[in-house]
Amino acid sequence: MRKNIVAGNWKMNTTFDEAVTLTKELLNLEKQFDKNTEVVLIPPFLYTKTLVDLTQNSKIKIGTQNSANILEGAYTGEVSAKMIASINAQYVIIGHSERRAYYNETNQILNQKLKLVLENNLIPIFCVGEILAEREANKHFEIIKNQLIEGTFNFSETDYKKIVIAYEPVWAIGTGKTASPEQAQEIHTFIRNLIAEKFGVNLANEISILYGGSVKASNAKEIFNNKDVDGGLIGGASLNAKEFTDIINAF
Ligand code: PGA
Repeated sequence: MRKNIVAGNWKMNTTFDEAVTLTKELLNLEKQFDKNTEVVLIPPFLYTKTLVDLTQNSKIKIGTQNSANILEGAYTGEVSAKMIASINAQYVIIGHSERRAYYNETNQILNQKLKLVLENNLIPIFCVGEILAEREANKHFEIIKNQLIEGTFNFSETDYKKIVIAYEPVWAIGTGKTASPEQAQEIHTFIRNLIAEKFGVNLANEISILYGGSVKASNAKEIFNNKDVDGGLIGGASLNAKEFTDIINAF
């Protein structure tokens, strides 16, 4: 079922103590959270199990920012979907633009990651989005279509239903520049239509499509207000408990 989701991607921020404090602050605010919105915290890998334990009596879900494209073995430094599932985390971000840009993650590698995430019953948040030069060259539709087809379209309908998509225009990430509500809606509709062409309208209507890129409490409402925007993947603003709560309540 299509849900509203607000996920906080902490990226490579917070010390262990800061991560615990932020989680406890959010647990204290949880009674104020919009009941119809799924809230996901995505800390650095090292703190995942601690956050799973801290939130076990709450509705808050925990995710990771990445997972390996191989299940297990001699791959120093990698963390697999099987490991993530074994500590009861539930979500995994796949293909964040920072992974694509700085760690050379191609659509093919991301597709391998996505397969393992699904096989381990985790919920992937699969990210797509264009860089500024691509938008300026009017290539954004083509880029996003390609990311979606190469990254995600080889799965069965049963698997596809479990995928959450995040549209994150790279030029809006951490820049303070957000896509306009019209730009977000335009791409979200484009993504939903592509999914509908491949898997049918009913399935496409079940997929949550999140927007990401400089979402703050002050602009979340106008972005979430669009009919094809089902929530947000929040970076910087998710590091402040009050601000993040206001975003959760922006629907
Ligand atoms: P931002 O990051 O909210 O800090 O722009 C969003 C993201 O990268 O997921």
